[in-house]
Amino acid sequence: MAVAAIRHMLRKEARLKVRRMKTENKRLWDGGEGKAMKPYYNHAGIQIFHGDCRGFAQSLGADLLVTDPPYGMNENTRRASAGRGKNPTSKNMRFVSARDWDPVFGDDEPFDPAPWLTFHKVVLFGAIHYSDRLPKSRAWLVWDKREGTASDDNADCDFAWTNLKGPARLYSQLWRGICRRGEENISTGPGLLHPTQKPVNLMQWVILQCKPTGCELLLDPYMGSGSTLLAAKRMGISAIGIEIEEKYCEIAALRLQQSVFDFPKEQDEKQGTSVQGSLLADLGS
Ligand SMILES: C[S@@+](CC[C@H](N)C(=O)[O-])C[C@H]1O[C@@H](n2cnc3c(N)ncnc32)[C@H](O)[C@@H]1O
Repeated sequence: MAVAAIRHMLRKEARLKVRRMKTENKRLWDGGEGKAMKPYYNHAGIQIFHGDCRGFAQSLGADLLVTDPPYGMNENTRRASAGRGKNPTSKNMRFVSARDWDPVFGDDEPFDPAPWLTFHKVVLFGAIHYSDRLPKSRAWLVWDKREGTASDDNADCDFAWTNLKGPARLYSQLWRGICRRGEENISTGPGLLHPTQKPVNLMQWVILQCKPTGCELLLDPYMGSGSTLLAAKRMGISAIGIEIEEKYCEIAALRLQQSVFDFPKEQDEKQGTSVQGSLLADLGS
């Protein structure tokens, strides 16, 4: 009788444990707020989740946060329609092929950096737009996008806030509309993937500034087209990316799968979804 009672108690205990684990898992997957978070890609230490990072990302146990969030600028991404990329000296006024993009999700509201400041090492791009909500730091990272060329009506550089130790640092890589130096050069690279895409080389330099130990986990909760994850992969660092727009999850996953890909030039001009389609076709061929 006593043995049966003990067995009953142990079974009850085991059932409760499973229920507790399920609840814990649910919390991990949806931040406890009922939001769906879909695993999208998982290979060689690099993971992508499709969903809203808010209320979820903190539970992942990452040490290093490197991200380029929506800055809250309500930026006009309809660049071709707005007449960007025109050369007034050319006959037909067309000089470069600026294209129209969908607005960046979340860019229509102020960005709140507070939930992201709890990570051990933090790098936040576009921080000049919300610097009044950040603690003081002298370790800003500056990306010189002009690299010796003349100024135009775009900013010469981009500022990333960090909580790192040490002085401010400067990185130069030309990035003016479609004039891009490096592997993203549109005449040789895969074309435009995201309206606020960052160069992979820049992200590698940024990660290097964080002096990663190799066993640290990197998180980019506003992943976009996956430039940070690609940089982490090349550096042998485990990383997680989160993105709310599925088309960018797909582009990032494809970039991670194939380090070099080409797609037909005429499709460069189209919207992100078409690019995504052509990338898929490219993979399938
Ligand atoms: C500035 S872009 C990042 C671009 C990226 N650095 C790249 O190289 O492609 C910010 C990204 O965050 C995504 N985003 C905005 N709010 C989000 C949220 N709450 N959860 C996850 N992703 C979000 C947007 O869809 C956008 O792709």
